[in-house]
Amino acid sequence: MKMDLKEVLNRARENLKGVCRVCRDCDGVVCAGEVPGMGGIGTGTGFKNNVLALRKYQLNMRTVHSVVEPDLSCEVFGVKLEFPVLAAPVAGAKLNFSNAGGLTEPDLAWAMVGGAYQAGTLGMIGHAPDPFVYKSGLEALERVDGHGVAIIKPMPDQDIKEAIQEAEEAGALAVGIDIDSAGLINMRRAGYPAEPKSVDSLRELVNSTSLPFVLKGLMTPDDAALAVQAGVSAIVISNHGGRCLDHTPGTADVLPSIAAEVKGKITILFDGGVRSGFDVLKALALGADAVMIGRPLSIAAFGGGAEGVRLQLEQYKDELEAAMILTGCPSIESIGRRVLWEG
Ligand SMILES: Cc1cc2nc3c(=O)[nH]c(=O)nc-3n(C[C@H](O)[C@H](O)[C@H](O)COP(=O)(O)O)c2cc1C
Repeated sequence: MKMDLKEVLNRARENLKGVCRVCRDCDGVVCAGEVPGMGGIGTGTGFKNNVLALRKYQLNMRTVHSVVEPDLSCEVFGVKLEFPVLAAPVAGAKLNFSNAGGLTEPDLAWAMVGGAYQAGTLGMIGHAPDPFVYKSGLEALERVDGHGVAIIKPMPDQDIKEAIQEAEEAGALAVGIDIDSAGLINMRRAGYPAEPKSVDSLRELVNSTSLPFVLKGLMTPDDAALAVQAGVSAIVISNHGGRCLDHTPGTADVLPSIAAEVKGKITILFDGGVRSGFDVLKALALGADAVMIGRPLSIAAFGGGAEGVRLQLEQYKDELEAAMILTGCPSIESIGRRVLWEG
């Protein structure tokens, strides 16, 4: 029998008992402080703000036009995606999810990367003190001829270079670091060396590979300008789903000022609190080139593996298509602030 998304979520709720409530509205309220786990760190403010920041915006409906079949495709890291939504790196099947429902690290990595690939887009793999985590991600990438991105922890430079080389060998389309992990509590507890990076250090990492380099975890226009100076190909505006630093603003709050600084100079990816295709449209309107989604896709992974992730992504795609028709946007490039109701 073919699964549908409702069944995927019901199964996820069952499998994730004691780890994640699979709330109808994944907004960070009941899981505040559950790190490791699914929540945001401390008071959960960063996670909650991500969701609230997108909800501050409403969409302007426009229906007198001839946009019947909008083109949702876009290009990221030299490949064409069917729609501008990527699976964010979500790692730690054991640490964060206690292998709920029997899902192992390789299963989780494959669900995210394979499901995204099957939906016509890209998945990212994460990294952790336990080398098994990265290895599982690399194996998932190999199964789709490298059709994905490896995000490495901000370890000492030489260790990052070695991890980059492994990603190259797996055929990854791009590599990068989640620089915001420099202060992650579970990393610190594990005595794992993670550190902020200078522009010079970043430039050296960028130059150590021929692959596009992604800097994930920026929240200010200043840092984005420094990323351009360092020569990165893409940034991810992200507060790690509110899991690193308590009391951060929502990512959609900082997106417009960062886009004003670097739009057109590098690819702007965005994550945090995106929960529908309508949210995707808002993020694109505020200046993102493409959007990434973490928790809801990992929940779908626990309910239905790669098939679950594909189904969830396809729902976002359908919602984005409807939203583009109802706001009169024929293509991704045509999306701008006019789709937002500004009072
Ligand atoms: C359980 C969990 C594990 C994560 N693991 C990683 C990781 O290994 N590397 C990384 O760069 N980000 C990681 N993230 C952050 C996500 O990539 C992403 O930035 C965040 O989840 C986006 O917010 P959202 O979940 O509201 O969509 C993780 C997030 C969660 C919830």
